Amino acid sequence: VDVDVDLLAFVMASLPEPPSRVLEIGAGTGELAGELRAAGYAVTAIDPTAEAGSAVERLSLLEVRGVYDAAVAVVSLHHIDPLEESCAHLATLLEPGGRLIIDELDIERYDERVMRWWAQQRRALPDVGHEDHESDDDPAHVLIHMREHIHPLDRICAALQPYFDFGQPVRGPYLYRWGLRPSLRAVEVELIGERVLPATGALLVATRRP
Ligand SMILES: C[S@@+](CC[C@H](N)C(=O)[O-])C[C@H]1O[C@@H](n2cnc3c(N)ncnc32)[C@H](O)[C@@H]1O
Repeated sequence: VDVDVDLLAFVMASLPEPPSRVLEIGAGTGELAGELRAAGYAVTAIDPTAEAGSAVERLSLLEVRGVYDAAVAVVSLHHIDPLEESCAHLATLLEPGGRLIIDELDIERYDERVMRWWAQQRRALPDVGHEDHESDDDPAHVLIHMREHIHPLDRICAALQPYFDFGQPVRGPYLYRWGLRPSLRAVEVELIGERVLPATGALLVATRRP
């Protein structure tokens, strides 16, 4: 899987110069961590679902030890439990002035228009077709299920606020990365500009308060 080009540019442009120590939280299968290592960063990538022998360590955020110059979390903070305790722990892992680079979605902005548009795009993909149960489900039900499992962006920000300085998240497209295709980014951006779709993505660069 290739890392999304916009995501990679955002992360590279927000990190300090290599070789700095970077913690990637919820690294999944480690594609972004691989790109950062190739660029000269000393990366510790963690994920509780990591496979043994992979370049991602099988750890949850609360179990991480060490000191880092920066941390990166790509659509992972909304899954982290316990959220407040894990964010307090993350603050202890970063040097004062260290950056926390966050790519998130905001579940509060998801509505039935979002779910319908997403399901239509998903079903139109030749490799998905009518075999895809998630996009065949009633959008209202999928949304209720997601709201039960995903921390809202406001709650993530509130959990970070005691330890980090940051401004308002920058809103933008996200749906094209949720099992769709990079080419749908331009369509999603156009629809956000026309106020047909809400901006479900959010970018944030926070700084560890001294
Ligand atoms: C939606 S996936 C994103 C994975 C990857 N960053 C990507 O963009 O493909 C969220 C990830 O967060 C991880 N995660 C959940 N709880 C976590 C925790 N307590 N500490 C670290 N990662 C966690 C999950 O295992 C999952 O791989």
